[in-house]
Amino acid sequence: MPLLAIETSCDETGAAVVHRGRVLSNVVSSQISLHAEYGGVVPELAAREHLRNLMPVVRLALSDASVAVGQLEAVAATRGPGLPSALMVGFKAAQGLAFVLGRPFLGIHHHEAHLYSPWLKGQPPVAEFLKFQPNLSLIVSGGHTLLVHVRAELDHTLLGSTVDDAAGECFDKVGKLIGLPYPAGPEIDRLAEGGNPKAYDFPRPMIDDPSDDFSFSGLKTSVRYFLRDHPGLLDDPQRVRDLCASAQAAIVDVLVTKTVRAARRLRVGCVTASGGVSCNRSLRQRLTAACERERLALLLAGTSLCTDNAAMIGILAERKLMRRSEATSSSADILPNWALEQVQ
Ligand code: KG4
Ligand code: ZN
Repeated sequence: MPLLAIETSCDETGAAVVHRGRVLSNVVSSQISLHAEYGGVVPELAAREHLRNLMPVVRLALSDASVAVGQLEAVAATRGPGLPSALMVGFKAAQGLAFVLGRPFLGIHHHEAHLYSPWLKGQPPVAEFLKFQPNLSLIVSGGHTLLVHVRAELDHTLLGSTVDDAAGECFDKVGKLIGLPYPAGPEIDRLAEGGNPKAYDFPRPMIDDPSDDFSFSGLKTSVRYFLRDHPGLLDDPQRVRDLCASAQAAIVDVLVTKTVRAARRLRVGCVTASGGVSCNRSLRQRLTAACERERLALLLAGTSLCTDNAAMIGILAERKLMRRSEATSSSADILPNWALEQVQ
């Protein structure tokens, strides 16, 4: 059953065609350069760009997959959470297409889909659900930092989230203080490679807190005070690299420590990670080392599937249809604040 999936929750316009656990095509048009000059995503601009890009992206996804629109057996789209005006574009287009084709439509929770992107492997990606294990899943992006206990396929419990800034937001805000363009995460990752992570000692907020929640706004503030107290530091490229490495080490320490601790507590044998920040090389290395030490299997989303994409929406929608989940009504609306706990 070829299924077309659409993702427009934030600043990536995505369309993918999936068929029996295989991703036949996965097209993403990123708006990052458009929002860079504003230092963050501007919702109305995002919606306008989705409107402009959606049809070309869908057409390309269908042609890459060699699937005609009439062959589609189902259509899915992200229903929430996300920016309302952005979500609306993809959700309503997909819903309308399914209605016209007389095919089932599924509105998918964006974070539930992230939980399954690490299970997509190979070229083209194939979902390895036969190997599915109960796992502890870390979702780290610009908007969210979540720890989720996934007991079985489609059965999960949210354990914790950030009480203030998300990990990606912290990377971006620290980058802004240093004068890096938005989004700063990839550039901090690159600069940190040539820096000393122990050069400066930044706090690891909530690292010893027994909850599974995170907090990153204090770390950004301490970088701000640090720069105030060290005028001229930004003129020295090596000290900038040290600063990037030290701030990154603080973020990564918290993420790795809390993820592994929750995995041990829940006695799962597997950890997964997805979301834009899971592209971070230090995070990937540190998680790999920690999981090896703890004898935990680790599944990291492939770097092209860490960030927002429609393949993960499609794969989850297909699994839901196979398990005869109810289709979403043709009059249903987007859910911009949809909580993961509310997903059945
Ligand atoms: O998942 P994503 O593409 O979009 C959402 O926020 O939903 O994540 C984007 C975030 C940004 O904050 C960006 O700075 C961060 O992911 N990011 C990284 C890296 N690549 C992307 N952060 C650290 N290191 C990276 N390599
Ligand atoms: Zn996302």
